[in-house]
Amino acid sequence: MRIAIIGAGNVGGGLAASAIKAGHEVFVSAGNPASAQETADKTGATPAGSNTEAVGDADVVVLAVPGSAVADVVGELADSLTGKVVVNAANALTPDYSDLFTANTSLAESVQKQVPQARVVSALGTVFASRYADPIEGGQPVQAFMAGDDADAKATVGQLVESLGFRPVDAGSLRFARSLEEMAFLNISLNANNGWTWQSAFALVGPTTAQES
Ligand SMILES: NC(=O)c1ccc[n+]([C@@H]2O[C@H](COP(=O)([O-])OP(=O)(O)OC[C@H]3O[C@@H](n4cnc5c(N)ncnc54)[C@H](OP(=O)(O)O)[C@@H]3O)[C@@H](O)[C@H]2O)c1
Repeated sequence: MRIAIIGAGNVGGGLAASAIKAGHEVFVSAGNPASAQETADKTGATPAGSNTEAVGDADVVVLAVPGSAVADVVGELADSLTGKVVVNAANALTPDYSDLFTANTSLAESVQKQVPQARVVSALGTVFASRYADPIEGGQPVQAFMAGDDADAKATVGQLVESLGFRPVDAGSLRFARSLEEMAFLNISLNANNGWTWQSAFALVGPTTAQES
């Protein structure tokens, strides 16, 4: 796949490295083009001088910027996102990390509302970037929850996360991005409040495969 990653920090850099390892073609942009260059040098991704240049003819566009920057980035990219699969990995954290700034919605739904011409999937926000390089726990792939209204887009993102070593779990319509963003916030709070090491990930236990008829 051709993947554009907007943001070259923990998420953008970690994702670029694992996507390149999995054989994808990766373009990366950042607020400062020097950051994109640095991440590209470390990962083998192609640096882009602007967000629009990164999107180009990518199959999948991943938003890996601070939640507070998402609306501006999406506004800037609006025209180039027509028909694209857009993965929102960003979380709507307030500056002091004490809450989410979304009320009765999610960041992913806000993105979908802002660019109805795009096919938005909420994914990767529930997994810490520290898990991207080797997403295996107890011999099992870490679960990567996804939510979205477009089945084809969700299937594409499922293939992408599976190629990175995760087990994709379809959490339902984009409405469930609210749940996923709350899960991400809970995991952040658990690590911040308990001195954990930013490695924990969610796993549903019990039967989580469809029953054969
Ligand atoms: N860290 C995690 O484990 C984790 C896991 C899941 C989800 N998330 C979410 O993913 C997002 C990114 O997290 P992070 O930890 O990777 O943050 P980060 O390390 O601070 O990186 C943010 C990146 O966004 C770039 N950026 C900022 N404004 C931009 C703009 N207008 N256009 C293009 N790029 C822009 C920054 O560019 P510069 O480098 O030039 O400043 C930087 O490369 C956040 O919403 C976070 O809540 C984080």
